[in-house]
Amino acid sequence: MNHFLEISQLSRSQVNSLLERAFFFKHNLQYPTYSHYTVANLFYENSTRTRVSFELAANKLSMRVINVNLQTSSETKGELISDTIKTLAAMGITLFVIRHTQEGLQQELAMQLGNQIHLINAGDGKHAHPSQAMLDLMTIFEEKPNFSQLKIAIVGNIRHSRVANSLQHAFSTLNVRELVLVSPKIWQPHSPHFGQVTDSLEKGLADADVVICLRIQHERLLKNEQIDLLKYHNEYGLTQKTIQYAKTDVMIMHPGPINRNVEIDSDIADSPQSFILRQVTNGVFMRMAILESLIDSE
Ligand code: CP
Repeated sequence: MNHFLEISQLSRSQVNSLLERAFFFKHNLQYPTYSHYTVANLFYENSTRTRVSFELAANKLSMRVINVNLQTSSETKGELISDTIKTLAAMGITLFVIRHTQEGLQQELAMQLGNQIHLINAGDGKHAHPSQAMLDLMTIFEEKPNFSQLKIAIVGNIRHSRVANSLQHAFSTLNVRELVLVSPKIWQPHSPHFGQVTDSLEKGLADADVVICLRIQHERLLKNEQIDLLKYHNEYGLTQKTIQYAKTDVMIMHPGPINRNVEIDSDIADSPQSFILRQVTNGVFMRMAILESLIDSE
């Protein structure tokens, strides 16, 4: 694997290898040393979890990390992203973690720039967020490893969610028994890759083993796609009442950032059934596995 761009480009055995290696890192405190590698973080969209997680993952593997300040970079003078990357590559940087609003940008850059460098997609618009999907798989596998028996519900603004897109591919690759995409009609996906779509929270959550709750991605909504937040909370919020539809041992997950008391009540987000912080913890180990898999391919 030269670049890490989309879950749909990974085979089942590549997904399983990344899971195995991420668990190895989680359970062994001795890490390999890759001190001759440098990672550049290029985040054109805001991030807390993903950027820090890749930085920590690289540090644990003894890699150097450069967080490029895009407000003061030469792109403000009109330089193309591809020229910025070529410039950084000429200084010896080989791994680039990129988040951008433009869908497909990382794929385009990979085609332009070839295989001398490694590109990692840390989110492209509403299209894909593959490292989030991988850390979500890891978190589910840790608790409920038999994917072919699981019913999983993803609740929220599915149409604008790169996490929901990548998860559909991930769950299809691992043969999840049932995936339900629960959303008000206005945010339902046009053509889901995998899963049944419903606007009924009760139906979607019925007997679910895992519920993944999404933030409303306000920054991606058109004017006619806005809905009243109180109404949304009443109809789709995860509350003490609505999680009763799911199994008693349901795992509650959320990629973050969470909007408390909008898509999820505080007492659910902070409950023992919530795996939101476990997802963040696992993200570091999964990103170590992703970084290592790219340099192993050299
Ligand atoms: N889940 C996620 O991508 O969070 P950040 O936007 O904080 O990176």
